[in-house]
Amino acid sequence: MLKTIGESNFSQLIDKTVPPGIRMKNALKLPAAMSEFEYLQHIKEISLQNLVFKNYIGQGYYDTVTPSVILRNVFENPGWYTQYTPYQAEISQGRLESLLNFQTMVSDLTGLPIANASLLDEATAAAEAMTMFFNHLNKHDHIDRPKFFVDREIFPQTKDVLHTRAIPIGIEIVIGDYASTKIDEKYFGAIVQYPNNKGSVEDYRSFIATVHAAGGFVAMATDLLALTLLTPPGELGADVACGSAQRFGVPLGFGGPHAAFFSTKDDFKRSIPGRIIGVSIDAEGNRALRMALQTREQHIKREKATSNICTAQALLANMASLYAVYHGAEGLTNIAKRIALLTQTTADAINELGFELVSDQYFDTITVIAKDVNAIREKAIRQQINLRYFDDNQIGISLDETTSLKDLYDIINCFTNDVDAVTFFIDEDSTLEHIPGTLTRTSPFLTHPVFSAHRSESQMMRYLKSLENKDLSLNTSMISLGSCTMKLNAASEMIPLSWSHWSRMHPFAPAEQTKGYTQILNELSDYLCEITAFDACSLQPNSGAQGEYAGLLTIRGYHASRGEHHRNVMLIPISAHGTNPASAVMAGMKVVVVKALENGYIDIDDLKAKAEQYSNELSGIMITYPSTYGVYEETVKSITDIIHGHGGQVYMDGANMNAQVGLTAPGLIGADVCHLNLHKTFSIPHGGGGPGMGPICVKSHLAPYLPGHVYSPEDGKFQHDEQQTAVSAAPYGSASILLISYAYIRMLGNDGVKLATEYAILNANYMRARLQDDFDILYLGTHGTCAHEFIVDLRPFKKSADIEAEDVAKRLIDYGFHAPTLSFPVPGTIMIEPTESEDKGELDRFCDAMLAIRKEIRQVEEGKADKKNNVLKNAPHTQFVVISDEWSRPYTRETAAFPLEYVKANKFWPSVSRVNNTHGDRNLICTCEPVSAYAEEETSR
Ligand SMILES: Cc1ncc(COP(=O)(O)O)c(C=O)c1O
Repeated sequence: MLKTIGESNFSQLIDKTVPPGIRMKNALKLPAAMSEFEYLQHIKEISLQNLVFKNYIGQGYYDTVTPSVILRNVFENPGWYTQYTPYQAEISQGRLESLLNFQTMVSDLTGLPIANASLLDEATAAAEAMTMFFNHLNKHDHIDRPKFFVDREIFPQTKDVLHTRAIPIGIEIVIGDYASTKIDEKYFGAIVQYPNNKGSVEDYRSFIATVHAAGGFVAMATDLLALTLLTPPGELGADVACGSAQRFGVPLGFGGPHAAFFSTKDDFKRSIPGRIIGVSIDAEGNRALRMALQTREQHIKREKATSNICTAQALLANMASLYAVYHGAEGLTNIAKRIALLTQTTADAINELGFELVSDQYFDTITVIAKDVNAIREKAIRQQINLRYFDDNQIGISLDETTSLKDLYDIINCFTNDVDAVTFFIDEDSTLEHIPGTLTRTSPFLTHPVFSAHRSESQMMRYLKSLENKDLSLNTSMISLGSCTMKLNAASEMIPLSWSHWSRMHPFAPAEQTKGYTQILNELSDYLCEITAFDACSLQPNSGAQGEYAGLLTIRGYHASRGEHHRNVMLIPISAHGTNPASAVMAGMKVVVVKALENGYIDIDDLKAKAEQYSNELSGIMITYPSTYGVYEETVKSITDIIHGHGGQVYMDGANMNAQVGLTAPGLIGADVCHLNLHKTFSIPHGGGGPGMGPICVKSHLAPYLPGHVYSPEDGKFQHDEQQTAVSAAPYGSASILLISYAYIRMLGNDGVKLATEYAILNANYMRARLQDDFDILYLGTHGTCAHEFIVDLRPFKKSADIEAEDVAKRLIDYGFHAPTLSFPVPGTIMIEPTESEDKGELDRFCDAMLAIRKEIRQVEEGKADKKNNVLKNAPHTQFVVISDEWSRPYTRETAAFPLEYVKANKFWPSVSRVNNTHGDRNLICTCEPVSAYAEEETSR
């Protein structure tokens, strides 16, 4: 490989590539590598420090039964968890179908027509609803309606995140009782919880009418399982329904990952945050799914974006929708009824013991008014039970799918005098007396055949396999997505996630029970600080973009603490990822764009001029390093000096951290804060568009402004202070997947993490060297090398052969490959990032494919192939097209489907032809169509 690159030695390549001025002088201080076998023993031992109590805490997190068929075939299956976001729709139809099922499920259960395919958690989903309403009724530069009403009985963690998100953009949160508050035209909206924080099922109809009469909108945070029995929010008049789909078969995981859902009325379809899956057609006129309204994605909208959501929770949305597919409407209703009946039974028994309840209208949660909470708590702990303890001598009990009749004895026993025997009476035929008649669901849901066709394990297993087969994942071939870092997600890293000592932990369990998690999270924070050369870390943000937001808030907090509230200008290079400006706007900042030079470097003169111009208001700069063009700019230190010289702070986007680990560090190049996409550098799988984790590391002066949380895991207490700064619902975000990054660091060890960086550079340079005679490579470093990724310019082919970057991307599918990153950061290009995980054989296959495609382009350039009707324009080729009796194309079927020898050994067929993007957007359909639509489609084939 070095010979191909033209280097004789490995360290010379690295020295040429990474500028000496920023190199790390000393080796990292991380533990030595463990073997996989050693690691699995190690993590098992630590897991036993977590105590798995029975959790009746609720508060948005409920134990659940993951059907084994889903656990084994999805959660533990690289065919599902290593997928990328479904931008290449032709090789993503499986997960697109499953996500469309998710949207259908959410839309049906909430009674609202448009649903997205997941947000990060319930609290941020509520915040997205708030900002969507805010932007709908207020202009960017003029706020007419600043107020947002928050009912006091919504979950504390949701309140916490709403506060965080409201303050920077000028929203005034008013907390009160929905039943007695006065709403006027200063309010742009309101949020209520259904059932609420205390479990009470309230009728919000007249409240919603009042808010509407004042011209505002209403969001309802809600629970999908409860909605199988309750009148859906849409029928009550709500404009948005949001919440967590966790209890649909997704383990607690100490806070996540879980998919949040969000549904709304048609009026908001152009402003709904997150990704929507839509129905379109392919080049043959057949039904094909795709991400709808892709141009709404933050990459395009930059600072005009109303949300920074990029990575969401696709894998968990798939699990939740598959849970609904497996159980169907009857199954879900039965689960819900059983829980409601057990809750009613528990409530009656506790009532009989002389306790009063806060509300008589409930689904799965009751709140008991107690005098001697300590005595009850002692009995609960003795029986390994966690109840929810409110400040005011109230105790919450939330039952779930895992609760058994035996469990009821133990729960009720907590409320007895320890003398009398526990008794209760249960009548399976009794009606649910505590769900008010006026709020009892009458409308059908999940009527689409997909929710009844796969009820046996055999059928379900085959359905899952059929979906998986349509998707190209890392278990087929490399996915060389620049900036996205699709590296190996090793099996030994993943295995512990299904162990109950990690998966069944409630995020608000008392600290004494979560010592295993505490140990891992503390160690991981230390490792990340060591790797970044920073001093403190927050593991809370649930994605890279959330990390950006949290990091910018630390900068904001720092300036404010020095009386410099006016510092609100954020400089952002033109090449930045779209989430950067979007996050800055959410943090209440004004975005000023900095130009790039021809060679891709930040234009220092422009930077200086802008820093000068905004010196007084300068909050900081957001840079990506190596830049999104794949270059280590030697000038980076002067950039950070200029910003510091004007009193600004430097934010480093850590998406490219895999080109830094062990060689340099954000702290060394002069940054003050950075996020780390653990789902890139640190091996968390992409899951088809999430989960991810975006912890932030900071220098000590920013440490006081790291995200806080209403729940303090250290002492197990809720601190009800209206100035919390949480960015996620759970204190450690999607805590369970932090184990993967921990495992990555422990199994590679001190030397391995650095070698991974070096191999990533080697692999990228090898591919660059193999391709550079046939393609223009953009933006190389001073010595002609690239960092861990490089950009191939395809724009010349538009002129020479009318071939677009998209044609090349689609043709790669015929060669068995997922396209690299398309048109980011430069339109008309692809950005290739092989990562350290691929061997030479795979790199060669990809290069061979690219070189063969170059020959195909040459055929068009030389007039030997038609400009419109050629292998590239018609790509990808489905089995149906190639085997069809009719074949009138000016090239052979073999050229279409088996263009190189290696393809024959492992052919991956796209399941649809090229998908028509505009058709889908013009006719937006984002739930499963009625069966009649399928009938029409069949006949048109
Ligand atoms: C350079 C860069 N910054 C930020 C992000 C956003 O990260 P996330 O998708 O985890 O929110 C990405 C994601 O691809 C990225 O490539």
